[in-house]
Amino acid sequence: MAVDYQSLAVTGVQALSPYQPGKPIDELARELGLNPADIVKLASNENPLGPSDVALKAAQKALSELCLYPDGNGFDLKQALANRFGVNMDQITLGNGSNDVLEVITRCFADRDAEVIFSQYAFAVYPLVTQAIGAKGVSVPARDWGHDLDAMAEAVTDRTRLIFVANPNNPTGTVHGAAAIEAFLEKIPANVLVVLDEAYCEYLQGDEYPDGVKLLAQFPNLIVCRTFSKAWGLAALRVAIALARQPSPTFSTVCASPLTSTPWRWRPQLPCWQMNAIWNVPVR
Ligand SMILES: Cc1ncc(COP(=O)(O)O)c(C=O)c1O
Repeated sequence: MAVDYQSLAVTGVQALSPYQPGKPIDELARELGLNPADIVKLASNENPLGPSDVALKAAQKALSELCLYPDGNGFDLKQALANRFGVNMDQITLGNGSNDVLEVITRCFADRDAEVIFSQYAFAVYPLVTQAIGAKGVSVPARDWGHDLDAMAEAVTDRTRLIFVANPNNPTGTVHGAAAIEAFLEKIPANVLVVLDEAYCEYLQGDEYPDGVKLLAQFPNLIVCRTFSKAWGLAALRVAIALARQPSPTFSTVCASPLTSTPWRWRPQLPCWQMNAIWNVPVR
């Protein structure tokens, strides 16, 4: 008997249209008779310079330990990141790339009654994960192709649980300065979490741009996402982080699961080996 998986899927997943990823470089090279090294897949914003030699050496070293289960808590990486950002290790959540982190955040903090706000032309994953969990996505019309932060703040209702802001934005490349982001955060109620997706922040130069990590002290409802995929040229490793200010010391203690890499028990159902061991490359 055939099984109709589509009809068995949860409602949000049933309605999803599959994401169309860019054609793999090797396939395009084969089709057009090109040298794969000459192709840059612009849609994915991969780093055309490639990973650093230091990262390559570290990855090589990690390969010799493939027989071992990884440290699910990512201790070394969290420690290095905590030092770099001047935060505590329990403020850091690690994930399989920001896509994973964004999905985990959505699953953790929004349910079917929730509304999740994002901008019209923002990163494609925000509406997808919102729909997958059956929450209501609120797409706020863009202003000059970027986030209309005033309209996004006005779109908050009693049901809003999460707001996604990509700064700089993908795919439109728009960016807001520190003053605009802070003014926006001031308007958002404390029970609504703002996810500031800073996947491309390392490319910004100038004091006028915000550093989400510094804003954590000021805004307890802020979660900042960073990734090793873009400026660091490590997209294949799938390593990204979320940083947050713990609402209270007891919150992390009560909710911390010894089995996951996350301080907030975002994944109580998973064993500790959801990440691969090579993810420690950034600190090796
Ligand atoms: C704004 C934004 N956030 C997150 C991601 C996901 O990056 P990764 O999952 O590789 O960390 C991307 C990738 O294109 C992006 O453009």
